Amino acid sequence: MFVLTEQSSIANHFIAELRDVHIQKDPLRFRRNLERLGELLAYEISKTLTYSKTTVQTPLGQTKTFLLTQQPVLAAVLRASLPFHQGFLNAFDRAENAFIGAYRGNHTEGEDFTVELEYISCPDITGKTLILVDPMLATGKSLETSYRSLLRYGIPARTHIAAVIASPEGIKHVQTRMPECRLWVGDVDERLNHNYYIIPGLGDAGDLAFGEKL
Ligand code: URA
Repeated sequence: MFVLTEQSSIANHFIAELRDVHIQKDPLRFRRNLERLGELLAYEISKTLTYSKTTVQTPLGQTKTFLLTQQPVLAAVLRASLPFHQGFLNAFDRAENAFIGAYRGNHTEGEDFTVELEYISCPDITGKTLILVDPMLATGKSLETSYRSLLRYGIPARTHIAAVIASPEGIKHVQTRMPECRLWVGDVDERLNHNYYIIPGLGDAGDLAFGEKL
């Protein structure tokens, strides 16, 4: 597992601003910080992808460089993932994209919940690199449901899962139930509360980015 904050960098500022109860009230800044973290994690993941030597023609000559052999497929879980996904798309600007509408159903306080899946659009992912992004890895249940639904569209060569903040429970879930996926996170928090929110976390990422829902 890769953890961005294991090394101090400017990423600490972006995560601190997402968490800060005063700064996070500015939705434009909140979305932009998610996007910036998407850009940074995309850069880290890009170091593991396959490149092939390519010639580039400049106006004055030629140079050789290594370019991606194949763009990844980016998958976003609606709706909180959208700004985070945009950050990945800024880096992988020719990527194909998948979108999944998954949410917590039957949720009475303190009780277990089901994951409802309502919408999915996905290209053929056979043999490709899939990057599934969700800013908050809490229980890992909606992430697993989303991932398994995407597998109906082909078996990827490899899958990366990216989150901004992860709980120990969510990390364990991914590592035991989806061991074939490589995990990339911004920071690891203490625990989940009885409503399955991450503590200390940042609150509800979807509400902070897009406004409260009914
Ligand atoms: N989703 C969120 O937005 N926040 C959490 O803490 C957990 C899931």
